[in-house]
Amino acid sequence: MTASKTPVAVLISGRGSNFEALHRATREQRLPAEIVLVLSNVPSAAGIERARSLGLPTAVVPSRGAGSRAAHEALVSERIERAGAEWICLAGYMRLLSAEFVAAFENRILNIHPSLLPSFPGLDVQQAALDHGVRVSGCTVHFVDAGLDSGPIVGQRSVPVRSGDDAASLAARILREEHQLYAEALRRLLVEEWRIEGRRVLFGPAHTESREAQPGQVPGDLTEPRTPH
Ligand code: GAR
Repeated sequence: MTASKTPVAVLISGRGSNFEALHRATREQRLPAEIVLVLSNVPSAAGIERARSLGLPTAVVPSRGAGSRAAHEALVSERIERAGAEWICLAGYMRLLSAEFVAAFENRILNIHPSLLPSFPGLDVQQAALDHGVRVSGCTVHFVDAGLDSGPIVGQRSVPVRSGDDAASLAARILREEHQLYAEALRRLLVEEWRIEGRRVLFGPAHTESREAQPGQVPGDLTEPRTPH
C-alpha cells in the first residue's frame, strides 16, 4: 500500500457495481484510496466474485445464520480492522448497522442511496419515487448513523424522471450518477478539510466561509456549486 493512499473497506450484498466504480477510480488516480477489503454478507453476491477476479482481498461473513446482529457485526469489524481499513464504504450493503458499530467507526462510514434523501429512504425507492410522481430523482452519499439512510449528506446528484420511465430505467439512470458521485464524494472527504455541524457537512477551513455539499448539484459539478443568476 502506498503511504498517501487511504485504506478503504467496501461492504456489499449483491451486484457490486458501486464497488467496481470505486475500484476504477482508485486505478485511474481519481481517488487517493486503496481498497483493502471487499466484504459481503451474502456468499453468492456477484460483486465478491468480481472482487476476487480483480485480485482484491475479500471476505464473506454471512449474516444468515450468524445468530445475533452483534455477533455478525463483531466478525465484520474484526475483518475490517485486520485489513487496516480507515474508511468503510457501504455499496449496496443491505443491512442496518447498530449504534455500537457506527460509534466504533465514527464519521468514517459512508453509504450510497438511490434517491435524493431525505426523500425515499429504504427499499424499492425508484418505484416509490415513480409512484409519488416526482419529476427529479437522483442519488445521495451520506455518512452512516444508526438510522435508516439518515446520516449527514456529503453529496448528491440529480437525474430527470422521464414520462416513459419504469423502476428499471430510472434505476439505471441513477446508477450511472452513483458511479461518479461515490468516488467524488469520498475524494472530497480525503483531500479537503471538512467538518460536520449539526446535520451539515461543511467543506473548507473552519475559519473561512465554508461551502456546503450542495443538494441537487448537476452532474460533474460536485466541487464547484453554481452561482445562481
Ligand atoms: C445501488 O443502487 C445502491 O444505491 C443501492 O443498492 C444498489 C447496489 O448496486 N443501495 C441502497 O439502496 C442502500 N439503501 P450495486 O451492488 O451494483 O452497487
